[in-house]
This record gives sequence, C-alpha cells and structure tokens, in this order.
Amino acid sequence: MPSRPTVLVTRKLPDAVTERLLATYEARTNAEDRLYSAADLLAKAAGADALLPCPTDKLTAEVIDGLPESVRIISTFSVGHEHIDLGQARRRGIVVTNTPDVLTDATADIALLLILGAARRAHEGEVMVRQASWGAWTPTGMLGIHVTGKRLGILGMGRIGQAVAQRARSFNMTIHYSNRRRLPAELEHGANYHASADEMLPNCDFLSINTPATPETYHFLDARRIALLPDGAVVVNTARGTVVDDAALIAALKSGKLAAAGLDVFEGEPNINPAYRPLTNTFLLPHLGSATHETRNAMGFKCLDNLDVFFAGREPPNRIA
Ligand code: DGY
Repeated sequence: MPSRPTVLVTRKLPDAVTERLLATYEARTNAEDRLYSAADLLAKAAGADALLPCPTDKLTAEVIDGLPESVRIISTFSVGHEHIDLGQARRRGIVVTNTPDVLTDATADIALLLILGAARRAHEGEVMVRQASWGAWTPTGMLGIHVTGKRLGILGMGRIGQAVAQRARSFNMTIHYSNRRRLPAELEHGANYHASADEMLPNCDFLSINTPATPETYHFLDARRIALLPDGAVVVNTARGTVVDDAALIAALKSGKLAAAGLDVFEGEPNINPAYRPLTNTFLLPHLGSATHETRNAMGFKCLDNLDVFFAGREPPNRIA
C-alpha cells in the first residue's frame, strides 16, 4: 500500500472502526456527524484518495464529476448503493464498493420485528402502557392478527429475503417469493416461487419487501398491486421507501384494505409522508435495519477491508463499479 492514503469519511463511524481507520490512513473524519452538503463534500474531498460515504450522501453524477482526480475509490458504508451514480463513477474510472452480507441478519431481525409489531398492534399497546390508558384485561381487547402459520410473501429473495424466510419458517409460515430468478432448490427450502409479483400477491397474508431501490422498483407497490393482496394483509418494508407508493399504501391502511404496515424505511426519510404518523395501524421505525453494534462495526470493517485491498493494488472483494 502506498504511504497512508487520505480517506474522507462523511459521517461519524463506530469507535472501533475509526481506530482501525486511523491506524492505516490519513482520515478526514466527521466527529460531529454533521450532514455534508454536496458543496461541503466536494470541498473536503480536495486531495483525498478515497471516500467513505453513507446512504445519506447523494453522490449524483454531478457530485461525482466534481470530485478531484485524486479520488480513486468510493467505499460506501452500506449495502444499498442507490445514492451513488455508479455509471458516472465507472465513466470517471472510480472504483465503488459496498458492504453486503454483514447486515443480513440484523435487517432480517427487524423485518420480523415489523411483522410482529404491526400484526400484534405493538405501537397501540405501547402507547396504552405509557399513557396509563390501559384498562382491565378483557377477552376482546386489543386483538391482533395471528402470525404463526400464515402465508408470507417475500418480494426480492436475495440474502436478506432468504434470512427473513428462514426466521419466518420458525413461525410455521408458508413462504412465497417472487424474484428475477428462481433460487436453486437447496436455497428454496420448499418456498413457493412466483415468476411475477402479480402472481404472488394474492397469496400473501404478509408481504415483506426486500428488493433494492432501482428505477424498475420505484413505487412498485402501488394501488394496483395492493389491490391484488388479500383483504386484511400486512405489509412490511426493510428495503427502501421508494419501493412503496406512500399515497397508495396510506389509502389502503385508511380504508381497511390492508390491516397494518410495519415500516423501517421511507421515501424522503427522515421527512416521511406525515399521513403515516396518525395511523394507529402502523408500526414505524427510523431505518434501524442494520443498527446493532456488531453489524455497524462489521460494516465499517468491510469498508476498510475494501480500501486496504484496493490500495494494496488488488481487486476489492465487494466491488460494484
Ligand atoms: C444499507 O446498508 O443499505 C442499509 O440500508 C443501512 O441500514
């Protein structure tokens, strides 16, 4: 590796990751964890050899064009990469890497939390306890939706979709999935493959969205597809908010077409569609999918592994552009 390349890190990283970063690199860190504007980011990138950004940084074609010649690699602290214009990075000859695998379990755990929280009215129950509006136990109070034994449809059966299925099987759920490609039998574990989402949706008491944000999946769950779900279905999303047409989902939650939704990601987050907030049949989390100490450390170490290999003159393991 050439002597201590300079890395611009756009957000505050976990301590263990920062410690390892500083041992190897000249790092421009962001201890205050301030969100950089495009102009800030470009100014701070002057003379840097690498960027270590997060999904909160919008590396548009324009921003990538504005990066100095010295920047040769972008190692993003995320598995998702819709915030980076990969085509423009390729054109500029900038290598891009991400952090797959290490956040699969944490994100799948959150999908199950959303399924249970939405189905069993966790938000309403929590409010009752905290606001002391909890009356005496009654046979008919706060009834929710039974999860065990129901049908779960998984939209996007990549690593995280498969980990959601694995967990759901312990609830005796029947797994349906739609994916560009059918999985080999040893990875399917008996799940029912549907060549199209339209074919799968009528079979979903629960729908888990696990497909990445791409131009093709933008507002994929729209009013037409929601209508294909059984009445009273529950939708959960741990992928990206842009996969859901919020207006259509909110209308279906208000009309009772859908019983509930559990959402960890939102279009425009953290500025979510305000119509979600008063809906009691929603269980809402602030993009916690990968938010465990272990996972965030592992994501950071993966970013550094990619940088180390790249600056040693080899192909980084998680290259996406
Ligand atoms: C990612 O890595 O893309 C996640 O959304 C962060 O939790």
